[in-house]
Amino acid sequence: MTDVSQPNDAPPAPVRIGLLGCGTVGTGVLKILRDNGADIEARLGTPIEVVAIAVGDMDKPRDPVVDRELLTEDPNAVVGHPDVQVVVEVMGGYEPARTLLLAALASGKHVVTANKALLAEHGAELFTLAEAQGVALRYEAAVAGGIPIIDAVKNSLTGNRVTAVAGIINGTGNFILTEMTNHGRDFSDVLKEAQALGYAEADPSFDVDGTDAAQKLVLLASLAFGVAIDASAPFKQGVDAVSTDDIDNARALGYSIKHLGIAKHDGQTVELRVHPTLIPESLPIATVDGVLNAVMLQASGVGELMLIGPGAGSRPTASAVCADIIAVARELLINGQVDARSLGLPFDQVLACSIKAIDDVASAWYLSVEHDDSAEALGVLEQTLTDAGIEIINAVRNDSESSGKRHSVLVTQPATTASIEAAVSSLTKLEATHGRISRLRIEAFNDA
Ligand code: NAP
Ligand code: HSE
Repeated sequence: MTDVSQPNDAPPAPVRIGLLGCGTVGTGVLKILRDNGADIEARLGTPIEVVAIAVGDMDKPRDPVVDRELLTEDPNAVVGHPDVQVVVEVMGGYEPARTLLLAALASGKHVVTANKALLAEHGAELFTLAEAQGVALRYEAAVAGGIPIIDAVKNSLTGNRVTAVAGIINGTGNFILTEMTNHGRDFSDVLKEAQALGYAEADPSFDVDGTDAAQKLVLLASLAFGVAIDASAPFKQGVDAVSTDDIDNARALGYSIKHLGIAKHDGQTVELRVHPTLIPESLPIATVDGVLNAVMLQASGVGELMLIGPGAGSRPTASAVCADIIAVARELLINGQVDARSLGLPFDQVLACSIKAIDDVASAWYLSVEHDDSAEALGVLEQTLTDAGIEIINAVRNDSESSGKRHSVLVTQPATTASIEAAVSSLTKLEATHGRISRLRIEAFNDA
């Protein structure tokens, strides 16, 4: 491996990196290193040099920024390259990424990755090895794309105790909801555009069913609260649970629908959930549209913070990857060693935590029910909710498309998931109700 610490006044050697993957994000990294190379070199005192790039198919057409001489279809050749000091993993997926990064860390190389899926599932194994080896494992790009949220939590807020994080943390989902809301576009048509724009995951079902947001929430909450969280811990509901009727109904009531990740730590239990959420249109986060993400934090010192920025896409994500590469290079050049604590504290001090059951989590609710158009049917419906302990605070009734039926949109007082599900189950069994009863959570962030 190249020794960057040089004796006397000799200029330091370049910091050499190898890329695992050169798709949307990898190509963005090459463009930033090319376009901003002079500034980066001025800030670091030495250039960043790409010495090897692994791809799946060498013959694929690529942007001219990619030096084909550096390409290989053997990712082990990048990890094992004698000059590579920092392995930059932007290939995605669980394997072979996991095995490659374990090999890189084991051989004393630093790692920068954008792979939230891998870290959410296998973070403990990778973080532990990085710390044991005294090497960096950085992942700014893995959460909220171009927003520097990992650095903000790990470094800028290190004097605080973070009690809640919440926000829009999937760019594809926000792009889909925005286009459906503002332009009445079809879900699958917008998803295809998000894929073409490089926002979506290789398996876009991760964006649609909430998996990607849940993985990011696991990483963010683990870092913010200093706790170990299993990838399966968050309650998960995707943007695919939202219909155009829900969007129109929400708007009529003064709400926007956003897909949120929400994590709260009360000192004992951790609440973790990702789901579409009705938000009052007057709140700033309700206006965060398109591929933008927004992360709100509640912290003991600073109070409330919100960071907004592009949550996906080639250059914004590459900006975060480059920040990590430069941070590793800077530590190496200045100190000759790096901070190997991926979660900001020694891994053996990361605490176990108990997860609050989603059944016990309370919020206000939006319900959309089709029912017979009669005073009697309405009375039965309202009595069923009252019997289940659900209090209605707002109701809008519309004619239904089918004759003899009406459509009620209800807003409730806060109720637990368990009680609303029991109420919906009772409503569904009534002869007076028809079809699926849509229900979504409402957040006004009054307690944030
Ligand atoms: P992508 O466009 O599909 O690029 C993946 C790259 O990895 C391609 O160059 C592919 O080769 C290469 N690759 C895949 N399997 C390989 C293998 N077994 N051996 C060698 N190379 C392999 O994906 P991406 O959008 O850049 O995303 C990369 C990572 O960044 C993922 O973990 C993703 O979750 C994360 N991320 C993406 C974004 C975003 O906006 N796109 C934002 C944040 C984080 P070919 O080029 O030959 O196909
Ligand atoms: N597919 C992800 C998203 C990429 O749309 O947010 C950024 O992590």
